Amino acid sequence: MTSVDPIATSDCEEVVVVRDRRAHAVAVVALHDTTLGPAHGGIRRVRYPDLAAAVRDVVALARAMTWKCALAEVPAGGGKAVIVDHDDLDREAAYRLVGRTVARLGGRFFTGPDVGTTADDLRIVAAETDRVAIGDGGGAGDLAAATALGVFAAMESLFKALGRAPAGAVVAVQGLGAVGGALCGLLHAAGARLVVADVAADRVAAIVASYGARAVDPAAIATVPCDVFAPCALGGVLTAPVAAALPARGVCGAANNVFAEPAAAVALHARGIPVVPDFVANAGALIAGALWHLRGEAVGEVRIRRIGVTARDLLARAAALGCPPSELALRLAEERVAAARAGAIEDSR
Ligand code: NAI
Repeated sequence: MTSVDPIATSDCEEVVVVRDRRAHAVAVVALHDTTLGPAHGGIRRVRYPDLAAAVRDVVALARAMTWKCALAEVPAGGGKAVIVDHDDLDREAAYRLVGRTVARLGGRFFTGPDVGTTADDLRIVAAETDRVAIGDGGGAGDLAAATALGVFAAMESLFKALGRAPAGAVVAVQGLGAVGGALCGLLHAAGARLVVADVAADRVAAIVASYGARAVDPAAIATVPCDVFAPCALGGVLTAPVAAALPARGVCGAANNVFAEPAAAVALHARGIPVVPDFVANAGALIAGALWHLRGEAVGEVRIRRIGVTARDLLARAAALGCPPSELALRLAEERVAAARAGAIEDSR
């Protein structure tokens, strides 16, 4: 294991870079904060321009996991793993490398799926450690379905805050993968009208055929007039210019770290467009995975749907305070972690 840039990782408990030189594999694992419990976070495999970008990404994702755990009230902390993808990657060796790293962290980190990682990849990880949730309907259940249900429950609360029902509402869904596709199913069943985009044409065709959705060019999805914009692809889609022009009445989706810059959150707030924070809406997989790992509990829909209650309270309090929901959510999460840390220090005296 190698230590990395102390500035980029300064608020993390531990960040390690691991390499399998023969397999041309590099992965980074970040444990952000384990005050509330062992770190939980999936494995992302994407291309990065350089190692520094991978470190920045894994740290930001692990940090968001800490806040997600705090607001979802699970006894877990924030962590994440990324594999630096490239044309010559020995995929099996890369996932084995992550599996060995999880095993070596000795119960401080539990992992599961994220963008670019399939159930087959996770079975490779599982050959090295049992601290992994495959997420395809086994022990911890279907994790993407849990995430989609949580986003849907949060969106129901957003609709209430906007003073309308999902039936007949227009929802623009960006990204039709495991979560976005399942979310479309829930929205269609609730009577919403779908406008969808994905860079994968087969996914678009399947959603259009199943739910009568209207497909638009991926570059145009954030310019579609709609009631709710649901980003379910990658993060960073809400830049300041996109936020300044977004023709939606609210935002609620699964994509992590959806704001490219703080100015985007400010712009949407100034325009009166409420955003359910991503780390509140997309906690379904975390709740299902963490409670399975830590308590052997198979959580049901009721527990996941509590995300809707959290979102409802957050939107109402943020509106009363006149601040962006993301700002309030972050404050509440930080307070919870700080209170737990103070309690732990007190207990140890
Ligand atoms: P996925 O990889 O199954 O789906 C992502 C989809 O986005 C793919 O269909 C891909 O083709 C599409 N996409 C990529 N770039 C795009 C673009 N520029 N425009 C439109 N579509 C694009 O990933 P999954 O699992 O559905 O996750 C979606 C998002 O939700 C990710 O940001 C992930 O980090 C986040 N998330 C997922 C959780 C889960 O349980 N799977 C849990 C929490 C967050």
